[in-house]
Amino acid sequence: MKDHLIIFDTTLRDGEQSPGASMTQDEKIRIARLLEKMRVDIIEAGFPAASPGDFDAVKAVASAVKNSTVCGLARANPRDIEKAGEALKPAKSSRVHTFIATSPIHMEHKLRMRPDEVVEHAVASVKQARTYTDDVEFSPEDAGRSEIDFLCRIIEATIDAGAGTINIPDTVGYNLPNQFADLIQALREKIPNSDKAVFSVHCHNDLGLAVANSLSAVMSGARQVECTINGLGERAGNASLEEIVMAVRTRQDKFECDTRIDTAQIVPASRLVSNITGFAVQPNKAIVGANAFAHEAGIHQDGVIKARETYEIMRAEDVGWSANRMVLGKHSGRNAFKERLKFLGFEFGSDEELNHAFTRFKALADNKHEIFDDDLQALVTESGHEEANERFSLADLQSSSAMGKSPTAKVSIDVDGSKKTAEESGNGAVDATFRAIEKIIESGSMLQLYSVNSITSGTDAQGEVSVRLEREGQIVNGHGADLDIVVASGKAYINALNKLYHTKDRMHPQLTQAI
Ligand code: KIV
Ligand code: ZN
Repeated sequence: MKDHLIIFDTTLRDGEQSPGASMTQDEKIRIARLLEKMRVDIIEAGFPAASPGDFDAVKAVASAVKNSTVCGLARANPRDIEKAGEALKPAKSSRVHTFIATSPIHMEHKLRMRPDEVVEHAVASVKQARTYTDDVEFSPEDAGRSEIDFLCRIIEATIDAGAGTINIPDTVGYNLPNQFADLIQALREKIPNSDKAVFSVHCHNDLGLAVANSLSAVMSGARQVECTINGLGERAGNASLEEIVMAVRTRQDKFECDTRIDTAQIVPASRLVSNITGFAVQPNKAIVGANAFAHEAGIHQDGVIKARETYEIMRAEDVGWSANRMVLGKHSGRNAFKERLKFLGFEFGSDEELNHAFTRFKALADNKHEIFDDDLQALVTESGHEEANERFSLADLQSSSAMGKSPTAKVSIDVDGSKKTAEESGNGAVDATFRAIEKIIESGSMLQLYSVNSITSGTDAQGEVSVRLEREGQIVNGHGADLDIVVASGKAYINALNKLYHTKDRMHPQLTQAI
């Protein structure tokens, strides 16, 4: 029997700390549901003490998820632990993850605490967390640059205090694979009570070594890996879940453990996270990049046709690539639509939501012959489940552009039920559209990101636009899809505005957290 390698996903917490990668509560729930379906063991849903919005989002994920443990992050202080414990109350299975920095540089400059005080805080926090749940994780932050003797001391004390998981973070992505493997081995050998805890790793990718370091640690006995979908995370990101899971699965000849992940959910999860955050996946990204399984070179194609194993070490369908089939068309019924979206991880909260989405699907199917999974995903990502709270909707958009002339756009928006119209010119049709929208709404927000992708191939493909807006520290991502990219842009901008006016209480975690 192989050991179980626990997959701890932190897309919703560390992933969201990535500049610009903000998610609404509803979006967090949708990602969490897909992670649960993927059979992720632990979902770190956020940092409840960071803001009331983060608290509510963790609580909502804790209520929605039943088959994965839901975790909340807390600094090693009484208020943070209390907030995490309270937010996690609705969870069927919960974990509090508390941390404090242990490297000399962090203790001296950030915490301004003596090592003895750091140990005291860590122990007290683990004990307090145990009053909320039996499942407590402790992380000595910046362990990768901490002194081994001090690590041994604080880890022994926190295991004694009741921590069942000890997570070793390479917070700044400084370690090398053999060095990190040695560290895990040394800790497991030197700490007298190390057998009472599961050793976990949390690697950042500053030197592009997050996955290599995590896998080396697994070779040295770590049995939990903290990772994110698409490797999202602070700075260069975290270890990518899909790479960790597929490396372990593909190289079972080398690993004494395996995960329980349903790998067919990997590509849908990658798409969902990319759509929601507006962070595109690079085409040559392992496992989930558009080219990851494309064999363009003639010599490769020839080999793959004769025997797949000549060049393929994994099967595209095993990670969910086959999911993008032509599934629905103009004559498909509401039930087929609902069932297909359920398969893709979307569940409608009410019949009204379903009807609304189905009407949009019918409108799309009138103009687009074949509807693919990606079209469906874009359709729901665009409006999410928040329609009930939408204040603005695009009623009409006419744009004109001609060579040598200044493009113009005339936009009509339903604002709280009454129609408003404005016309503007701009540097391009999209610029004119955004100016016209701003003339009506006057949000005063700054456009931080604008990107267009073609959802499927062919000139009749829908264009999918992501827009990121920032206003006084609040960051929101909006999405829009349409056969006309100017209309898709207008929809995306309005989708972002709806979030901006709905999520006042959720500042971007980078602005609210002092991690
Ligand atoms: O990178 C890090 O050290 C963290 C901790 C909170 C585990 O994210
Ligand atoms: Zn981290």
